[in-house]
Amino acid sequence: MRAVELNGYDGLDSLRVVEIPTPKVAANECLIEVKATGINFAELELTRGRYGVGKEPPFIMGFEAAGVVRAIGASVGSVKVGDRVTAIASSGGYAQYATAVAAMAIPIPQGISYAEATTMPIQGLTAHLLLTQVARVQPPESLLIQAAAGGVGTYLVQLAKILGVRKVIALVGSPEKVDVVESLGADIVVDTSKADWGERVFAATDGVGVNVVMEAAAGDFGKQSFRLLAPFGRMIMFGARNAHDTFGPKEIQQLIYKNQTISAFNLPSYKPEDVAASVGPLVELIAGGKLRLIVSGEFPLDRVKDAFEAFASRQTIGKVVLIPNDTTPAAQTEPRECCVGGFAS
Ligand SMILES: NC(=O)c1ccc[n+]([C@@H]2O[C@H](COP(=O)([O-])OP(=O)(O)OC[C@H]3O[C@@H](n4cnc5c(N)ncnc54)[C@H](OP(=O)(O)O)[C@@H]3O)[C@@H](O)[C@H]2O)c1
Repeated sequence: MRAVELNGYDGLDSLRVVEIPTPKVAANECLIEVKATGINFAELELTRGRYGVGKEPPFIMGFEAAGVVRAIGASVGSVKVGDRVTAIASSGGYAQYATAVAAMAIPIPQGISYAEATTMPIQGLTAHLLLTQVARVQPPESLLIQAAAGGVGTYLVQLAKILGVRKVIALVGSPEKVDVVESLGADIVVDTSKADWGERVFAATDGVGVNVVMEAAAGDFGKQSFRLLAPFGRMIMFGARNAHDTFGPKEIQQLIYKNQTISAFNLPSYKPEDVAASVGPLVELIAGGKLRLIVSGEFPLDRVKDAFEAFASRQTIGKVVLIPNDTTPAAQTEPRECCVGGFAS
């Protein structure tokens, strides 16, 4: 089968399409014929050696896989051959076939495409767990969401409104993304390409500051967001880049003098039973048409570098996916849909 291997940490130059044997299932796993697999921000960081996955290259890339179950291990009872599932892949999802722990495979609701379903096991569950288990935002509190047009961000905006948060302030990196994020229900959308974005956020909170900041950006942008935190506010750190952030004395002083709290979140270190608590509610919302799953680019596996370049350009909205079994001639030339203004869904 064809798969995408990471063979070093030289960024996208370390991605290579290879021919390898189809993986074998362990007793607790299922084998998925991958119909779609998506890009996560941490995978971009991974190509640069800035995100750890507990193994060293070469290995097959891809945190997730959506497709059809083609085989199951001896002890599997939760899924059967032929089921449509989306899951965190154990063998690497950027491949024509991938294995996954069957108990964690999520059935794809009717009417949801494989491409849309790639958003569920990581970005959707991350957003749901962040809001329900970590931030626990109360309706009167204001909530700041960075990269609100991104994979996690589009879920956070919609889920926060479903949970009754009255002031969702969404940040986007370009004016073209404003309308989409407004259409997802954000109360205030602020374009961070404008120099005065911080003042605009502060004004939106009537000069009080934001009660809860969902912090994934890191660096100067993260520091600016932290300065917008209200007294007694909470900042929830969950970005791959936050792992490299250092808090200086100035930030510690602010935390102390403003009685603030920092919490953090990492999906891979969550217990399966705690993740499972979010699966049912998330699937129900998706099956009931309460959440829009946004895909803005579909690329064949061989064009993996183009897919990553589109993602890294910050022009895409929602999810960028790879279609491993797309062998149509058209797929080898142009992406089906891509980037701001041309997104599907
Ligand atoms: N802790 C966990 O377990 C966990 C799990 C999943 C995701 N996450 C984190 O959640 C955040 C969002 O993840 P995601 O996978 O949904 O990604 P994403 O938000 O879809 O990433 C793409 C968006 O990020 C923004 N961005 C900022 N700097 C960028 C850069 N240098 N290159 C590319 N994009 C950049 C851009 O939005 P704008 O231009 O509009 O700013 C871009 O459209 C990431 O920080 C990720 O590490 C954490």
